[in-house]
Amino acid sequence: MNISDKDLLKKFVSSFDYDKILAKYDIENNIAYLKNLVEINVVNKKDAKKILGLLTNLKKNLPKILESEDIHFAVEKTLENNLKNKSKSLAGIIRTARSRNDLVVSDERLYLKEEIELIIHLIKETILAIINLAEKNLDIIMCGNTHLQPAQPVLFSHYILSFAWMLERDIERLKDCYIRVNVSVLGCAAFAGTTFNIDRIKIANYLGFKNVSQNSVDSVSDRDFIIEFISCCSVLMIHLSRICEEFILWLNPNFGYIELPKELTTGSSIMPQKQNPDYLELIRGKSAKVIGNLVSILTLMKGLPLTYNRDMQEDKIYLFNSVDETKNSLKVINKIFKELRLNKKKLLQSLKFDYILATEFANFLVNKFKIEFKSAHKIVNNCVNYCKEKEIRLTSMNIEEYNKLLSPIKIDKKIFNELKVRLDFGNIVNSTNSFGGTSVKQVKVQIKNLKKMLKSL
Ligand code: ARG
Repeated sequence: MNISDKDLLKKFVSSFDYDKILAKYDIENNIAYLKNLVEINVVNKKDAKKILGLLTNLKKNLPKILESEDIHFAVEKTLENNLKNKSKSLAGIIRTARSRNDLVVSDERLYLKEEIELIIHLIKETILAIINLAEKNLDIIMCGNTHLQPAQPVLFSHYILSFAWMLERDIERLKDCYIRVNVSVLGCAAFAGTTFNIDRIKIANYLGFKNVSQNSVDSVSDRDFIIEFISCCSVLMIHLSRICEEFILWLNPNFGYIELPKELTTGSSIMPQKQNPDYLELIRGKSAKVIGNLVSILTLMKGLPLTYNRDMQEDKIYLFNSVDETKNSLKVINKIFKELRLNKKKLLQSLKFDYILATEFANFLVNKFKIEFKSAHKIVNNCVNYCKEKEIRLTSMNIEEYNKLLSPIKIDKKIFNELKVRLDFGNIVNSTNSFGGTSVKQVKVQIKNLKKMLKSL
C-alpha cells in the first residue's frame, strides 16, 4: 500500500478531528473507572496512583493530548508517552474491563448533560429578555394577523409573550430529555458486561449520573438520547426560525414595527439604502441544518443490527453541530430581543385598517339585539364591503349609513354612541379578558405565571 492510501485509510477511520471535544469527559470516565478497579483489587494502588496522577494533570492541560484514531486511543497514547520506557505498558491498564463501546457512550452522556444545562440557561435568558420587552411595552396595540391578513387588534406584549411560551416548552422538553441522558453505562464493556467484579453504581456516583442502565446490550447500542436531544433542538430551532420570520416581516418598512441597531443588520454592496436582516435570516437558515442532523441520525440508526457498529461514530457530527448551531442561534436571538426598538408610530399606523374591529362589531350586535352570530357576521360583512368601496373607515360611518346597512336592525342615537365607544381599539383589547387573552390584566397574569414557571424549571 502506498503512503497516500495509508493516509487516506487512517483519515477515513478517524474521528479525532471532532471527538477531541470529548477529551475532558473521557478522562473523567477513566478516572472513575480506575478508582473502582483499585477498590476491587484488580489494579494495584501504586500503578493506579501513577496513572490517576497523569490523568488528573492531563485534564488540566487538554491541548497536550496527542492525536490518534479517536479520543479514547488518544488519551491512552498520551499516557504512554508520558511514562518512562519500562513503565510504558502501564498506560494499558485503563483498558481493563472496559471497551471503547461503553466509554464513548459515557463520554457523550457526560458532555450532553453539561450542554443541555447551558442551552436551558440560554433559553431562560431569552425568555427574560422577552418578558422585559413586554413589560416595557405593556399596552401598545398592534394589528394581529391570520393568513398574514389583518385580523384583530392585539397587544404587542401579548403577541411577543407567545414566543416566551414556545421557549418555555422547549425547556420542559430538554429537561425531560435530560432524565434519559442522566444514565450511566460504564461497565457494560463491549456489550456483554464484564467478569470483573466492578461496582457500576459506585462508578455512576463518581460520575454524577442519577441512574444506571439495566441492559448492557442496549447500553452500547442505544443512541435514543442523542436522537431525542437533536429532536428537542429541532423544535427549538423551528421556534427561533418562526420568531425570526416575524421580525423579518416587521423590519420591512411596509410594516416597520421594529428597528435593529446597525450591528445587527447588514448593508448591500449595490443598494446603499439597505439594512438587511441577515442575522435573522441565518437563524432561519441554520434551523434547516439542525433538522437535517435529526434526519441524518435517524437514518444512521435505522437499519443497524445491535450492538455497536462503526457507523455510530458519525453520531457525534450531528450531535456537536446541533449543540453549536442551537447555542449560537440562541445567543444571537438573545441579543436581538435586548436591542430591538419598537416603532410605535408604525404600530399605530397598522391600525388604520379599522376593519379589524369587525369581529367586535358583530359581537356588539349579538349582545345588543340577541341575533345569532351568523346573521351579525353577514351584516358586518356588508358594512365592511361598503366602507372598502367608499374607502372609509368602519368607525367613520354616520348613523344613517349604519341604519341602511344594518336593516332590519335599527340603531338610535344612544346605541350609536355605545357602538362608537365599543369600537375602540383600547376598549376591545382590554375587554378581551378571557384567561390567556390579550387584555392588559391577562397579560400581567401571564407574566406573573411565566416568571413563576421559570423559577420552578
Ligand atoms: N470512535 C468510536 C466511536 O465514536 C469509538 C468506539 C469504537 N469502538 C469499536 N469497537 N471500534 O464510535
